Amino acid sequence: MNLILLGAPGAGKGTQAKMIAQRYHLPHISTGDIFRENIRKETEIGLLAKSYIDKGQLVPDEVTCAIVKDRLTWDDCKNGCLLDGFPRNLYQAEELDKFAKIDGVVNINIDFKLLMDRLCGRRVCKECGESYHVSTLNGQTTCHCGGELYQRKDDNPETVKSRLDVYSAQTAPLIDYYTKKGVILNFTGTEAPAEVLFEEVKKVLDEKFGK
Ligand code: AP5
Ligand code: MG
Repeated sequence: MNLILLGAPGAGKGTQAKMIAQRYHLPHISTGDIFRENIRKETEIGLLAKSYIDKGQLVPDEVTCAIVKDRLTWDDCKNGCLLDGFPRNLYQAEELDKFAKIDGVVNINIDFKLLMDRLCGRRVCKECGESYHVSTLNGQTTCHCGGELYQRKDDNPETVKSRLDVYSAQTAPLIDYYTKKGVILNFTGTEAPAEVLFEEVKKVLDEKFGK
């Protein structure tokens, strides 16, 4: 099955994706992670992506769509995949329809008031990608795996604001797009731990697609 995770920045797409990918044996494909890996390796795509990501803008569609189209041809996608952060506008959604059939869209609706603190307080492990919030770290600077924690460059108030604006203007219309296609699965993100939301997601996905 091919699934999409939809939601505003900080809604918990990446957090849910890890749990969904593990349970349903799907490769987790995050365009944000792919771009950050390219930035780290200083590739041509990385250099280009950085100029957009640092401003909270979308990386151009041609680049993003080509990356995903290629990624879906890999062997690990033959039984499906979990797309996190793609598509992000109507153009990308229409392009995706040309090379993949989407079975379900896990849409996490969340009050924007929760997001600024979540994102500006987020610290991520350089090694395993685990996320933490500064309020729970008590000065700790390393992950349980020993990796160093860092703050994403786009997790600052000004860039978060522009990411949220981009979400509202360009990505939120996809809720309607996938509702009309009959594949949307709506959830509400809250202050409850991520595992609570995952229990709900799991129940719906199990019922719809089997384990
Ligand atoms: P991307 O990396 O996709 O970032 P994003 O959409 O802004 O979302 P985040 O990764 O910040 O949040 P998330 O929803 O994954 O939440 P998380 O699980 O980490 O994209 C970055 C940039 O790349 C874009 O701005 C754009 O420039 C570019 N890009 C990417 N895709 C693109 C595309 N298709 N087209 C063009 N450009 C593209 O959770 C957030 C925090 O909250 C974490 O600390 C987590 O631990 C915590 N948390 C999660 N759940 C809970 C909970 N229930 N309670 C409390 N805390 C929680
Ligand atoms: Mg993410």
